[in-house]
Amino acid sequence: MDLQKELLRITSEYLDENLDYLKLSKATEEYKILLNEICGQNLDIENGRKDLEFDNGKALGTYWAALCLDDLIRTRQFIRGINRAIQEKINKQKPLHILYAGTGPFATLILPFILRYSKEEIRYTFLEVNQFSFEILKNIISKLGLNDYNIKILKEDATKYHIDPQNKPDIIVSETMQNALAKEQQVSIFLNLMKQVSYHTIFIPENIELFIGLKKSQSLTEENQVSPFKKIKRVFDVSKKSMFLSNGVENMILKENLFEKSQTIIENKELEGFIDLVLITEIQVFNDVKISVNESSLTTPIILKVIANQKIDSVIVNTQYKISSLPELEYDIIISNNV
Ligand SMILES: C[S@@+](CC[C@H](N)C(=O)[O-])C[C@H]1O[C@@H](n2cnc3c(N)ncnc32)[C@H](O)[C@@H]1O
Repeated sequence: MDLQKELLRITSEYLDENLDYLKLSKATEEYKILLNEICGQNLDIENGRKDLEFDNGKALGTYWAALCLDDLIRTRQFIRGINRAIQEKINKQKPLHILYAGTGPFATLILPFILRYSKEEIRYTFLEVNQFSFEILKNIISKLGLNDYNIKILKEDATKYHIDPQNKPDIIVSETMQNALAKEQQVSIFLNLMKQVSYHTIFIPENIELFIGLKKSQSLTEENQVSPFKKIKRVFDVSKKSMFLSNGVENMILKENLFEKSQTIIENKELEGFIDLVLITEIQVFNDVKISVNESSLTTPIILKVIANQKIDSVIVNTQYKISSLPELEYDIIISNNV
């Protein structure tokens, strides 16, 4: 089998403008089979299942990182967003430098591009903190015959990685997150990299936003037609824009890895017809390539409180994002029932 031809054929589905779920899930299955065949080893073993724990969150074990591919819309939208960013930059800068922080064992999100561009057009720096994933990735790159491309694979912690000032990336990609930016290290990775590059560097995702919101009940006929979610207030976001507006990372983080507090007040008129108070995640991958609420595991809303059938005068939600060994948006909810 010509592995390179297969990789190009299979991954072309991700770049197709039209979203065809059947074709997309077939392509995902084929991509997975191809990568597992090249890898040639079972990842569902103790070493593969072990997450790494750090002071600012965890890094997924090799087996789990490989499974991210199965999140169809996540994988499609990231690949499409990266494609758009490359299109935007490729004619201005050659070779384009892409830094991929947290590749997993397969560099799933960037692999589709390597064969589509020459080494004179794009060069890559891959960072992976997990030794097992790092070893597998080197093997995959070699077995795919990609050693002649300009790819630097480093076993490095992206939250501490120093970018060579003479060699700054034009595009930085990282998908090291879960819904509500909990548990993993996306925020720490982006903050570390954002403070080392200029405003012109593209970050993918371009913006990750958390909202306090409400969910209403839906009848069966309404399901799949209208979204039951209503965003009330944005309480946290990670983007180059918000970092530069705060005049740097140092100003964004108040103390002890705490970000600015936010308060959301919802009056009883606004609560009518809603059943849950929720935390919503939305991702702008790049430009108009987005992952909306509930489209992927990364944007699954979290129910903070059931509010159905209660006489509530108002709800106050105090939130603050905190980086710790378990990063999360901390919150407390105050409900007044004077009605
Ligand atoms: C959610 S998986 C995603 C894998 C792959 N990029 C994808 O999108 O399918 C995140 C990967 O990032 C790696 N990672 C997490 N934190 C990291 C860090 N601080 N530095 C380098 N790699 C990290 C994990 O080990 C894991 O392989």
